[in-house]
Amino acid sequence: MSVLDTKNLSPRRLSFITALIISTANALLSLFLHQVWYIPIFVFAVTFGIIYYLYNYTLQRFIYRKIKIIYKFIYQTKATKKEEFFYDNILPQKSIDEVSEDVQRWAMQRKDEIDILKANEQFRKEFLMNLAHELRTPIFSVQGYVDTLLGGALEDEEVNRKFLNNAAKSIDRLVRLVDDLDEISKLEVGKIPMIQESFPIHELIKDLYEEFSLKAKEKDIQLSFKKGTERPLIVNADKQKIKQVLVNLIENALKYGNEHGNIVAGCYEMDDKHVYIEISDDGPGISEEHLPRIFERFYRADRSRSRAIGGTGLGLAIVKHVIEAHGQTVNVRSKPGVGSSFGFTLDRGDQ
Ligand SMILES: Nc1ncnc2c1ncn2[C@@H]1O[C@H](COP(=O)(O)OP(=O)(O)OP(=O)(O)O)[C@@H](O)[C@H]1O
Ligand SMILES: [Mg+2]
Repeated sequence: MSVLDTKNLSPRRLSFITALIISTANALLSLFLHQVWYIPIFVFAVTFGIIYYLYNYTLQRFIYRKIKIIYKFIYQTKATKKEEFFYDNILPQKSIDEVSEDVQRWAMQRKDEIDILKANEQFRKEFLMNLAHELRTPIFSVQGYVDTLLGGALEDEEVNRKFLNNAAKSIDRLVRLVDDLDEISKLEVGKIPMIQESFPIHELIKDLYEEFSLKAKEKDIQLSFKKGTERPLIVNADKQKIKQVLVNLIENALKYGNEHGNIVAGCYEMDDKHVYIEISDDGPGISEEHLPRIFERFYRADRSRSRAIGGTGLGLAIVKHVIEAHGQTVNVRSKPGVGSSFGFTLDRGDQ
């Protein structure tokens, strides 16, 4: 960088240039007045010295001290020995442009932090709104039935049982919602201990197929295993939690699947360490716009339809939490009109 590069002037260089210009002008003037060779040199040396010192001193004192305060403020921490050295020795060499770059960099960092905070805030607001909304429906329904019963329907043998039954159903729904929320919050704070054990994943799915056989019959849905993946695979995981994951996935496939449809489970060896488990259906599928958000709490692809079926949109959020708590990943592939496949990885267990 040349001395006359005006873009990145440090206080020292600025003082040097100013002193050089003024003292040269002075020296020329005195050469013109005295015409003796040593006086202009003397004048040059003295003016240069004084001006350089004064300029440098003023700049350091009045401008760079302020900048030092800015640095201390933006880095917020108390200065260590190293930083003290930086403030006292390196900082004065920095040009105003470099300082401005530093401050801009700091401002960008802050902007990112603020963006994250804003996103969290938005998330929290949405969560509360959704929660209020989900609670309102069953509570209003209970309130409605109780009011009607108290208003005289209690004595009406024709409807009193039916109304009470409906109220009880809404209460069940509330209890389920609260249980699910409780489960998610516990998973989020990592409060539930993992009980890892080795077990055959096929057996677990088979047991669940048994449990769901009645429901499947109602819609004439076939529950089966993908051909060629029947080989028993042992996984190492928390059996109860994986059971819950599979319940949620099979329940969804049954709930949203078409009548006379198929649900197929597949268990694949991925590598020496991992197993991939997939539950597929040939139901209505999920359109692309909804896919990235499907694992969010309360998110439903088809609001009116899903709610009519009775879901709260927490099932997949629990699935994701459980799988991630195992240090594994979950994914979804789906195409409207073709079907959906939900898959997750697990560690292999001892044979
Ligand atoms: N197999 C599937 N086929 C089609 N859509 C599905 C399937 N599984 C999930 N979805 C869509 O994803 C949404 C979220 O599913 P999730 O299991 O999280 O909630 P839910 O089933 O509505 O309620 P919950 O499981 O809490 O009773 C569902 O509302 C539905 O729109
Ligand atoms: Mg569900």
